[in-house]
Amino acid sequence: MLSIVPLLALASTVAAHGYVSSPPAREAGNAAVAACGRSVVNDIKRDNTSHVEGLPELAAKDSGYNAALCNLWLCRGLQFADNAANVQKWTAGQSVNVKVRLTIPHTGNANVSVVDTKTNKIIGKPLVSWDKGYADEKAFYAKTTPKDQIDFNVTIPSDLGSQCASAGACVLQWWWYGTGAKQSYESCVDFTVAAP
Ligand SMILES: *[C@@H]1O[C@H](CO)[C@@H](O)[C@H](O)[C@H]1NC(C)=O
Ligand SMILES: *[C@@H]1O[C@H](CO)[C@@H](O)[C@H](O)[C@H]1NC(C)=O
Ligand SMILES: *[C@@H]1O[C@H](CO)[C@@H](O)[C@H](O)[C@H]1NC(C)=O
Repeated sequence: MLSIVPLLALASTVAAHGYVSSPPAREAGNAAVAACGRSVVNDIKRDNTSHVEGLPELAAKDSGYNAALCNLWLCRGLQFADNAANVQKWTAGQSVNVKVRLTIPHTGNANVSVVDTKTNKIIGKPLVSWDKGYADEKAFYAKTTPKDQIDFNVTIPSDLGSQCASAGACVLQWWWYGTGAKQSYESCVDFTVAAP
C-alpha cells in the first residue's frame, strides 16, 4: 500500500493539460473500461486532460487491458461506443470550428488530423499543424495564447471518398506533444462524411 502514496503524488504534480471541448470529444465510459481496463480509465477520469505516456505502465499491470481493443496512442484508448451519441455529420469541404481547452501549457508541436481508426494513420495531411510554439508557457501565463491555437476552423477534406462514411471509422484527432515535458495529449471527435 505504501507505494501508492508517492505514485498519486507524482500523478497530481504532472496532471492537467488539455482537450478538445467542441465538438464533443470522446470521454471515458464503459466501453473504455471493457477495452482498456479500470486503471487507465480511472487515470483519465481523475484528470481528463492528462497525457498518454503514463498509461501503458498502468495498462500493463491491469488484467482488464486488452491491447487488441485499446490503442493508448489513438485517442488515449477512448472508444467510439462511449461517444456514439455525439457523431458529427460533416460534408466534404465543410469548415468546422474546433475549440481546445488548455489547462496547463507545455510548448511544443500539434496538429489536428483525420485519422483512420483501424490503422491509426493520418489520412492525407494534417488539416492544421503547428511546428513549434503550441501552448507556450510564457504566452499562456500572460494570457496571450494565440487564439488560432485554441479556437480555429478546419476544412474537412474533399477526397475522403467512403473512408469515413461509417461512424467509428475515422476520428478528427487533436494531437499535441509538449517537447520539454515529453508528453502527448490526444482528443478525438467522432464524425462521418457520407460517400460521394
Ligand atoms: C472533461 O471534464 C470536464 C469537467 O471536469 C467536462 O466538463 C468535460 O466535458 C470533459 N471533457 C472531455 C473531453 O473529457
Ligand atoms: C470559423 O467559421 C465560422 C463560420 O463557420 C466563422 O464565423 C468564424 O469566424 C470562423 N473562425 C475563424 C477563426 O476563422
Ligand atoms: C502530429 O502531431 C504529433 C504530435 O506532435 C506528431 O507526433 C506527429 O508526427 C504529427 N503528424 C504529422 C503528420 O505532422
